[in-house]
Order: sequence, then structure tokens, then C-alpha cells
Amino acid sequence: MSAINIRRLKAVSVLKVLSHGRTKPCLMLAHDDAGNEVEVVVKWRAAMELKASGLICELMAALVADDFDLPVPKPYVVDVEQGFHTIIATPEVSKLAQNSVGLNFGSQRLPPGFATWAKDKPIPVLLRPMAAEIFAFDVLIQNADRRQVNPNLLTNGEEIYLCDHEQAFSFLAGVIRWQAPWTGQGTEFLRNHVFFQQLKGIAHNLDRLRGALGALTDARLGEYLEAVPNEWRTNNTAADRIVEYLQQARQNRDALFAVITHLLT
Ligand SMILES: Nc1ncnc2c1ncn2[C@@H]1O[C@H](COP(=O)(O)OP(=O)(O)OP(=O)(O)O)[C@@H](O)[C@H]1O
Ligand SMILES: [Mg+2]
Repeated sequence: MSAINIRRLKAVSVLKVLSHGRTKPCLMLAHDDAGNEVEVVVKWRAAMELKASGLICELMAALVADDFDLPVPKPYVVDVEQGFHTIIATPEVSKLAQNSVGLNFGSQRLPPGFATWAKDKPIPVLLRPMAAEIFAFDVLIQNADRRQVNPNLLTNGEEIYLCDHEQAFSFLAGVIRWQAPWTGQGTEFLRNHVFFQQLKGIAHNLDRLRGALGALTDARLGEYLEAVPNEWRTNNTAADRIVEYLQQARQNRDALFAVITHLLT
């Protein structure tokens, strides 16, 4: 496992608004300390339903995915400075930028050729093991937002990348009667997972992923905490609660993977 180094970038300009819903994530040009240009997809902090918790979920889910060798675009922290909003022509986006001064979540733009997973696309046989691991990952991180209607997956036909983990770790949202997945309760949302119907009824080997969860040491989880900007953790316990949850998941991993296998049987 390599050392975690989440680079900070400075927002330079908005190249494109990627989605015209409430959150308006944007493809942006940003600079690192050395002045190198990076194209990043930025999630505005002001647009997050759970505010800083949403940013923390994005970053920590990306760290877990990366440690599990599941492909995620490289995460960044993107600094939006005072006055940046004045160069944005679209009023709604400009307003979001104005309210998002400070540190936002960014992910490196994937190369052209990656597009959203089409909702009824058959999973190629070669990608089936990865699809099963993605399903299991979403059970682990309690992510209900990889549905048929909005898969939050990008593919070029050969590879799959995961994006959008703002709603992961759903216990943070104060879900009534939330139950940990290893109890076997509260798993109904997974029936809407983009891969569920196609994976169900087929045997999958999830040993690799279970091993990766077992290998997530307390020291590594401590590194996750250090990677979260202090600005996001001020008066916010989400990062600590996610670490506690992952420790419990690691402890209960046999039960967790039995539940996942049962769901897919
Ligand atoms: N790193 C990336 N590279 C290329 N495209 C990306 C990247 N991250 C996100 N996208 C694209 O931008 C879209 C919006 O990002 P995301 O899903 O994180 O935001 P959102 O606020 O949930 O928007 P939506 O409601 O459209 O899902 C994604 O569905 C995906 O198509
Ligand atoms: Mg999304």
C-alpha cells in the first residue's frame, strides 16, 4: 500500500457543467503548487446535502476503493478562492462557487472514451468478477446510489471506474432504524443496485475483497483520517464515525460476506 497523498489544487476555471440537477458538478481546470494544469471534476461543497460529511464520504470511499484495487479516478482537494465565482457566466453555478469558497472534492477527469454505464448494458463475462466486487463494495460502504437509473459508473467497454460516493456510509444521514449490513438487515436497497439482477443466481468469488478488508489496519485507517482536510473535520465527526464503522466491518467480515453471498444467491 502506498502512502496517501491527496494533492491540493487551486481552481482556475470552469470548463463544463456536467449535470444540470441541483448539485451541478463541474469539469474544471485547476493548478497544482508547481503550476501544472489538472482537469478535475469538482463536487461543490455548498451543493452537498450533508455538507462536509458528503465531501468526507467522497474522499474516504475513494481511499477504500483504491486500497481494494477497485478503480476510482484519483481524488484531489480543490481550493476555490474568494472571487472565483465572478468569472463564471452561469448564474446558478456562480452562486454555488460563491458559497463553496474553501476546500471542495475533486477527481481527476477520466480520459475521453469513458461514458456512463448504460442502464441495461449486459456485464461482459470478463468484467463479471469486478462487477461482483463493486456490488460487495457498495454493501460494505452502504452506498445506495449506484442504481439502474443512475449507475455512477464510467466505462470504456474494457474498464469500469467508480464515481460519486457522496451518499455512501448512509448511517451518517440518520437513516431511521439503520442496521449494520453484517446483521443481514436493512439490505433491501441493494435490489436496485445496477448489477444486482445480472449477478444474482451466479456463484462469485469474493475472497480477494474479504482479504482486502481484513488487511485494512488501524494504522491505515489513521492515515485516512490524516488525509481528510481539517477544514472538513471542524465540528464534524463523520470521518471518525466512518473509521469506527470500517473497524467493525473488518471485525465482522465473515458475517458481512456471508450476507453478500446470500443476497446474490
Ligand atoms: N473523474 C471523472 N471523470 C469523468 N467524468 C466524471 C468524473 N466524475 C464524475 N464524472 C461524471 O460526472 C457525473 C456527475 O458526477 P457525480 O455523479 O459525482 O455528481 P452528482 O452530483 O451525483 O451528479 P448526478 O446527479 O448527475 O449523478 C457522473 O455521473 C459522471 O458521468
Ligand atoms: Mg451521481
